[in-house]
Amino acid sequence: MRDTVRGWIREARHIAVLTGAGMSAESGVPTFRDAQTGLWSKFNPQDLATEAAFRAHPQRVWDWYAHRREMIDRVEPNAGHVALATYALRHPGRLTLITQNVDGLHQRAGSVDVLALHGNIAEDQWLDAPRACCQVDAIEAGHPPRCQVCGNLRRPAVVWFGEHLSAATLEVAELAARDCNLMLVVGTSGEVYPAAGLALIAHQCGARVVIVNPEPTPLDAVAEQCLPEPAAVCLPQLLL
Ligand code: APR
Repeated sequence: MRDTVRGWIREARHIAVLTGAGMSAESGVPTFRDAQTGLWSKFNPQDLATEAAFRAHPQRVWDWYAHRREMIDRVEPNAGHVALATYALRHPGRLTLITQNVDGLHQRAGSVDVLALHGNIAEDQWLDAPRACCQVDAIEAGHPPRCQVCGNLRRPAVVWFGEHLSAATLEVAELAARDCNLMLVVGTSGEVYPAAGLALIAHQCGARVVIVNPEPTPLDAVAEQCLPEPAAVCLPQLLL
């Protein structure tokens, strides 16, 4: 099975890779729910990861993201992240990496031009569209930075529940899904759209779809091969 896929990788003109939370499982990245320990366990995701929650309780939401950022800072990219970054370096222009993960581990492994569909937890952005006055003059440790003139706040640069993905990033990802002749779908449940739809687009446009996931997913229906293995074991064997 794996040798067949290795052959497809060798032949492929353009490989698109779509990753999800399972990609980072072997790095020990806690899921949203895993991170909800102690004082965080009493909140619903809607209390912590929506624009409405941030507007109502900016300090609480900021603290929650500080907690998750600290957890992510403590983990390292795994052999799967490294295999993808190494492959792209050795084969310039041949691989497009699309991720639903906000943990930044692909980037820390050395991948460049990562299409981070759901944002990056390490980065911030303005809550409201920035005005001419908007800048951060002084950062007060532990608090969301704000513009001293208009009060606009900085917020984590992730896609919260109910928000749209960046149209520009999604467009580039869709172009890659249409153009690739091989798509590797790694460690995603395949249930969250529009990300999961990229595998369907690739399939409809004639690409081979290969799934790397120890568990079955709804996307198996369009896959030419399913490799039921963990990402950090499988990807180095496929790509290196
Ligand atoms: N290697 C490969 N796959 C794995 C591994 C592993 N080591 N461990 C777990 N998996 C698989 C699981 O079988 C599951 O199918 O990874 C998938 C993880 O599914 P989810 O936790 O639902 O993550 P994901 O599909 O990335 O979720 C998509 O939904 O929660 C939102 O915005 C969040 O980006 C996230 C999106």
